[in-house]
Amino acid sequence: MNRKFAAVMAGLMLTAALTGCSAKQDVEQPDIYVICKSKDSYWDTTRWGAVDAGEEMGLNVYYEAPETEAEIDVQIQMVRDAIAAGADAIVLAPLDTDALNDVLQEATAQGIPVLTIDSDVSYEGRAVCVSTQNQSAGAIAARESADLLEGEGEVGIICHKADAQTAKERMGGFVTELDGSLLVADAYPHIKVVDVKYGEGDVERSKEGTKQLIEEHPDLKLVYATNQPGTVGACKAIEELGLGDQITLVGFDYFNGADAYINSGILDGVITQNPYNMGYLGVRYAKKLIEGDIVPSIVDTGATYVEAANLNDADIQWLLDPIVDRPAFKD
Ligand code: BGC
Repeated sequence: MNRKFAAVMAGLMLTAALTGCSAKQDVEQPDIYVICKSKDSYWDTTRWGAVDAGEEMGLNVYYEAPETEAEIDVQIQMVRDAIAAGADAIVLAPLDTDALNDVLQEATAQGIPVLTIDSDVSYEGRAVCVSTQNQSAGAIAARESADLLEGEGEVGIICHKADAQTAKERMGGFVTELDGSLLVADAYPHIKVVDVKYGEGDVERSKEGTKQLIEEHPDLKLVYATNQPGTVGACKAIEELGLGDQITLVGFDYFNGADAYINSGILDGVITQNPYNMGYLGVRYAKKLIEGDIVPSIVDTGATYVEAANLNDADIQWLLDPIVDRPAFKD
């Protein structure tokens, strides 16, 4: 077993899973390697989904992620390590659309099924992608924004990365929806996207980017942030500038503390993904592939708009916190 992988194993005590401790894995059970994008707490929910699926389905689940989303080479090495360790399947949230293709090809050449979660790769040999349909999620954000703007105003975007598939689609879906479609040409003629700043998945950079948007565009009415650090940074910027009444904010990815920003009117709404189901279904489909079952090529885990009006609904609360009361992972 590769020592670099924290041993988070299905069928073990909760404490064992949390400390990544070294109890012996079940040698009879298939080994699923789940590799996410970073150690950011966003991924804890995905990890719990994977751990739960492994426990319920009798699989050894090994989890790993680079420190930050900038470490593509580290992630490539993690896939290589999983192959060397004898993985039966690899579930990957890829940091780049193309950069992992070669190593994934090595995996499939050795008969190891590869599944993607959260984001996809361009390698056609991956078996299934379990993710949000980000283009549609961007379109939902656009329609909600247009409603909040009552059809009129300047918009700035805090995008998480110029080259990430999720970012391109969330922005593309947003702008396309505002521009109109074949059915509704020029859908919102009085709404204009005036600028895009890149937060690089970092709260501070997203906060500074939001402040720049506001300074450089005095008529700006709405900010759309395309991921969690972007949304947190935009909330902080608008709060620090005391502009909660003047700037509307539509974000992406619910986070701890978002309810306070929603209730105070700084955050108007947030597109919420289902990271728990990405982890859970990624492992479930890995099992199916190991057993030789046919799986769909794409699985949509959905996107839900959360705002003050539905924040306290029971189904929304469950979506926002599917891992109620579980402590944070220590590794
Ligand atoms: C995206 C992930 C990203 C995460 C944290 C989510 O919105 O789906 O791709 O890694 O935000 O930045």
